[in-house]
Amino acid sequence: MLFENISVLKEDFTVGNGQYVGVREGKIAYCGAQPPEGDWGERFDGRRALLTPGFVNAHSHAPMVLLRGYAENLPLQRWLNEKVFPFEDRIDANSMYAGTLLAAAEMARFGVCSFTDMYMQIPTMAKAIVESGLKCNLCRGLTVFDGSAYKELSNYTDNIAFLKELDGAGDGRLKIDFCIHGEYTSHPGAVADVAAHAKEAGVHIHVHVSETQSEVQACKQRHGKTPVRYFYDLGLFDQPTTAAHCVWLEEEDFALLKEKGVTVAACPVSNMKLASGFADVPRMLEAGINVALGTDGAASNNNLNLFKDLFLFATLYKGRSGDPTVVTPAQALAAATVNGWRSQGRPDCGMIREGAPADLVVFDLDTPWMYPQTDVINNLVFAAQGSDVRLTMVDGRVIYQDGEYKTIDIEKVKFEVQKGTDAILGVVR
Ligand code: NI
Repeated sequence: MLFENISVLKEDFTVGNGQYVGVREGKIAYCGAQPPEGDWGERFDGRRALLTPGFVNAHSHAPMVLLRGYAENLPLQRWLNEKVFPFEDRIDANSMYAGTLLAAAEMARFGVCSFTDMYMQIPTMAKAIVESGLKCNLCRGLTVFDGSAYKELSNYTDNIAFLKELDGAGDGRLKIDFCIHGEYTSHPGAVADVAAHAKEAGVHIHVHVSETQSEVQACKQRHGKTPVRYFYDLGLFDQPTTAAHCVWLEEEDFALLKEKGVTVAACPVSNMKLASGFADVPRMLEAGINVALGTDGAASNNNLNLFKDLFLFATLYKGRSGDPTVVTPAQALAAATVNGWRSQGRPDCGMIREGAPADLVVFDLDTPWMYPQTDVINNLVFAAQGSDVRLTMVDGRVIYQDGEYKTIDIEKVKFEVQKGTDAILGVVR
């Protein structure tokens, strides 16, 4: 495909107008201000459109779209125990498969080319993800409530098996990560073992860290240290790690995360909705921590629309700090793109340059809310809607374009999701 006469979001977060970008065999094969020679197949008229790198949802639980709108306005522990866990126990393979595809469709609709996900029934999810064509770092959520028996738990050994069976599926688009769900659902022995196995296998880690104030207080009572220090001391951060939330960090935590190169996946919408608080993102950026952006699950968001999070990410820390200069539009866009790619161990993705994988998104610039085009970057962060996405491409393959899904039978998926959810709610409501 050849994108002709299109505006391009460049690596320094400025915009180049009137550009030509050619895609061949899954890669960006040409970038320039002149039309390239040769036959590029399909042509995309890029006038009044913006080509950006693919966006990355750095923390999600994709099949939780099944719980959208079901459990609202409850504190976290009651939300989990009374609503989320009983529902999740009843998700069968059909619903897990359809839910994963629905999530992939929603993410692609909003320009997400890759996501970092923690959930369950991983082979079923993997099948759906590979079919969707999206990229994903996937792990089985590991919870260990009984310290003596964790080695027999299937979800402890599962990720090791999945690494052998599923890592690299879909021409390398699917990667398997290792996981600890969180400090409050873990046991130190299990954390140390997962850390050791991750090091041996050279894989990434996905973990929830310091999401709520009560979680941090309970951790300090149990272990005499913060969750960040707990995981640090057990060696979990010795491998590249994505730590979701990090809302309630303490003084020393910032330096520990920076030292280990941990990526913080900020989830501002989910944290607000569950009344967990606000991560100190300005301080993280100042400390040089790699901050990426995540939606979390649709039970607490309620979308997988990264643009909703991007807008909040770019505005709420100004309001919280009283300083309108914190979190610039460029920093917000970096969090939603290149920082997420880096966190997934896909460092060649997230930029529009020759040789890079063609993970690309086209935005409509011709909507009323994108005029005048005084500063397209400011418009993109503060004025654009996720639904302004016209095209989402992963490894050169179009996933979504102008109302049409190319890899997902969306009507069938919607039908299956409704049917599966109705069946579960017939039992648990
Ligand atoms: Ni989460």
